Amino acid sequence: MEKSNVQVPLRERDISSTKDISQAVITRLPRYFRYLGDLKDAGVERISSQELSRIMRVTASQVRQDFNHFGGFGQQGYGYNVEYLYVEIAKILGLNQLHRLIIIGAGNLGQALANYMNFEKRGFIITGIFDINTELIGEKIRNIPIQPMEKMKSFVQENDVDIAVLTVPKSSAIKVAEQLVECGIRGIWNFAHIDLEVPDNVLVENVHLSDSLMKLSYLISK
Ligand code: NAI
Repeated sequence: MEKSNVQVPLRERDISSTKDISQAVITRLPRYFRYLGDLKDAGVERISSQELSRIMRVTASQVRQDFNHFGGFGQQGYGYNVEYLYVEIAKILGLNQLHRLIIIGAGNLGQALANYMNFEKRGFIITGIFDINTELIGEKIRNIPIQPMEKMKSFVQENDVDIAVLTVPKSSAIKVAEQLVECGIRGIWNFAHIDLEVPDNVLVENVHLSDSLMKLSYLISK
């Protein structure tokens, strides 16, 4: 890892060529992005694939292969320019633009997510919170009022919301997902433990913390 003043010339990259990359590579990109962010914050300007692979705990050839999907990024004998790589991966991950989020279900999990401020550092802005429980309506989380579901559609359309965080009980999730599709939402971050059927133009990312816990249980039980 070296601190250097040498700059790699920036050139425009055809991000559209990243459409066909595998899920496995996409899954690794946020990790690269986090580690590169840490390196950048530590003032590191360039890094070799060997060093990056050591930090990432993958092989150097894996790093090179991953980045080759996007046309390389590195230069022989120089390695990777940390800042450049960070910015390019951010572009691939769509983090070079703001994403407006709403949270549906202001219970335990919805409130915890609404209170987590680090999403904003990555450009994910929580703009609205919705619930059916009339007792919660009007309460505020980090100054964002909880609104009734009837207001969701117009709110999404007027505020350019593209992602919904689904933290309602499993029994309500399918119905709420249908409402979200009707609102024109493009992505659903689904925490409810149920598979959602949505049209192809709506993307769902399921998050199940308990799966990760069960994996840990398996590992310690072996
Ligand atoms: P909770 O009961 O505290 O909150 C659920 C909220 O959703 C309530 O405020 C309720 O009024 C609201 N709600 C119910 N039906 C609704 C509807 N049709 N429209 C709008 N709002 C509605 O539950 P908690 O603990 O916050 O969990 C929320 C969901 O997240 C559950 O499905 C739970 O299983 C899931 N969960 C998932 C985790 C994961 O890792 N994926 C971890 C923890 C919870």
